Amino acid sequence: MSKPLIEAKSIVRSFQNIKVLDHTDFSLSKGEFVAVTGRSGAGKSTLLGVLGALDPGFTGKLLINGVDAAKASPSELAELRREFMGYIFQDFHLLPNLSAMDNTILPAVFSGTDSREVKEHASSILSRLGLRHDNTPTRFLSRGERQRVASARALVNNPQVLMADEPSASLDEESESTLFDMLDILRKENGFAIIAVLHSKRILSRADRVLELKEGVLYEKHA
Ligand SMILES: Nc1ncnc2c1ncn2[C@@H]1O[C@H](COP(=O)(O)OP(=O)(O)OP(=O)(O)O)[C@@H](O)[C@H]1O
Ligand SMILES: [Mg+2]
Repeated sequence: MSKPLIEAKSIVRSFQNIKVLDHTDFSLSKGEFVAVTGRSGAGKSTLLGVLGALDPGFTGKLLINGVDAAKASPSELAELRREFMGYIFQDFHLLPNLSAMDNTILPAVFSGTDSREVKEHASSILSRLGLRHDNTPTRFLSRGERQRVASARALVNNPQVLMADEPSASLDEESESTLFDMLDILRKENGFAIIAVLHSKRILSRADRVLELKEGVLYEKHA
């Protein structure tokens, strides 16, 4: 078996002496779809922040693409975030005055690869996710449309790992199914893994593994 994309052992993340993550383990293999559930405030976004190399304030062992995140330099971590990960944040973090297209290609701009091919790639992802208004500033888009722009932006650099924090929270059931159908197709084409915070039972049933975060520790819910 190939080495895990992400391997975490005994991760602790505290805020004001409260251990939000309390010696939890996690491992993600190539191409798998792992869902994380848990009550509000359980620490799901905190977990994604640590596993996604966005939050250095943890203790424990964290290997991302074989890189020891606790020992990596800021530029090594930035490269992992740029080249290895794609993120869909809970509140999107889009730039409201930029168009859907310009938001989507931002990671490629930061990687120095904003060529015409990247724009074509971005346009193809946007239209496959069902978004046609790619020149509209995102402040004019509906919440569901902004959700799709956030998803397209996360995928534009062809990441190995897609991290998604409640990616379908603002979509109706049909749009939610379309989003995950598209993610399945893109995942089969590109082989990326997904770690997603999810609540919808219908979508949870599509995951390879469902983990529940409870009292700072991840528990396997079903295989
Ligand atoms: N930067 C921070 N400073 C202080 N406390 C924080 C910080 N980030 C998170 N917390 C606390 O950590 C706990 C877990 O927060 P987190 O956002 O990870 O939960 P969550 O499971 O994602 O919740 P939700 O389902 O509502 O999104 C909360 O009690 C929160 O207040
Ligand atoms: Mg959250």
